[in-house]
Amino acid sequence: MNTIIIGLQWGDEGKGKIVDYLTEESDVVIRGQGGNNAGHTVIAKGSKYVLHLLPSGILWDSKINVIGNGVVIDLIGLVQEITRIESQGIVITPDKLLISDRAHVVLPVHKELDAAREAALGEHKIGTTKRGIGPAYADKVNRCGLRIADFLDREYTVQQITRRVAEANEVLARYDLTLFVAEQVIEEVYTAFERLRPHISNTIPVLHAAWKSGKKLLFEGAQGTLLDIDFGTYPFVTSSNTTAGGSCTGSGLPPTAIDAVIGVCKAYTTRVGSGPFPTVDEGLSEYLHGLGREFGATTGRPRGCGWLDTVLLRFACMVNGVTGLAVTNVDGLDEYEALQICTGYDIDGIVHTLPPADRKAWDRAVPIYETLPGWKSDTTGCTNFSALPAKAKAYLSRLAELCGAPIQFVGVGPDRVQTLVKITE
Ligand code: IMP
Repeated sequence: MNTIIIGLQWGDEGKGKIVDYLTEESDVVIRGQGGNNAGHTVIAKGSKYVLHLLPSGILWDSKINVIGNGVVIDLIGLVQEITRIESQGIVITPDKLLISDRAHVVLPVHKELDAAREAALGEHKIGTTKRGIGPAYADKVNRCGLRIADFLDREYTVQQITRRVAEANEVLARYDLTLFVAEQVIEEVYTAFERLRPHISNTIPVLHAAWKSGKKLLFEGAQGTLLDIDFGTYPFVTSSNTTAGGSCTGSGLPPTAIDAVIGVCKAYTTRVGSGPFPTVDEGLSEYLHGLGREFGATTGRPRGCGWLDTVLLRFACMVNGVTGLAVTNVDGLDEYEALQICTGYDIDGIVHTLPPADRKAWDRAVPIYETLPGWKSDTTGCTNFSALPAKAKAYLSRLAELCGAPIQFVGVGPDRVQTLVKITE
């Protein structure tokens, strides 16, 4: 069984935890898009691990982890991440972590250009993670990016970095920002490249061989459907295809290799960065922040919180072909009296059950809610689906009905044992 795991909202759905759970029965875990803008927190055996570029399978012995061609890799950031995870006692050998030689590289100048562009946009900023993701993908699409394989040709790469630094400096000078020195950039990225070199290979035949020999593949999506460059709330999106198709283009494995798509969503909705968020609710945000929840793993920013939005989820289930839902953070709602579920948007008097494409229509979207009773009890100790309170089950079943996909997993806490599997009767 080869499975894609996808975020159905604006990222931060708790995918890392579900990936970690499913990794137990997988052989290979693959990242196919995004970069170190992603932040997956996994709690296993009482320890907390924050992963950005490393696939979650890295926490397990004897699993192969692949950073595919569709990922943009900050070489320096990846080395730092490996060092940090190794200092937590995880061993990362070249046969455990494979990096595609076709992946594009995020240079230090990309990060600064990301920040400069955000500053230039002022109040219209995207609210990016400033990890250089947009500029790196822009260079890729503009056919002037640097790929990992290019680093094997030092002369060419030095030439390209020198050119890119000069171009970036022109932009940065306009904003009175610190300029880069090409030699220093080259030195830094090459040091990181040399550290990563044993992990680099043509990962495509490796993945095909694993597929053909019946190994179980797990694709770990980063960010979420509403941040997808095509299907998200454009322009307030990231720069990759975060939806199921991105797993194929980002790894070299074809759609025919995929058996299942697990869509992960929270029992409510969160968003960081700018952009539309019809169901945002101040009271719920304050409540969840008060519990110490919903602060970003990558940037530490507090996330905006809102009610469950099934307009978004219905669309996300469609474009991803979701075969099963994983609903996380159900315990976040444990104490709430009454819960709202958004079933549609009223836009100029017309009910929409799918998100609009027109960016201005979002501003006029008024959520249509139905109210369900809260379960007012602690779910964190539940060890199986049937142990959940009846009202929690009713909430989940309404969610599934409105989204058109069955519930497969429920998360009631950060620990691995707090992932409940719903056995279909
Ligand atoms: P970028 O990916 O850094 O360019 O940021 C673009 C948008 O995607 C911003 O709204 C970010 O907050 C958001 N974003 C990027 N990565 C993540 C993530 O892993 N979780 C949640 N939001 C993200």
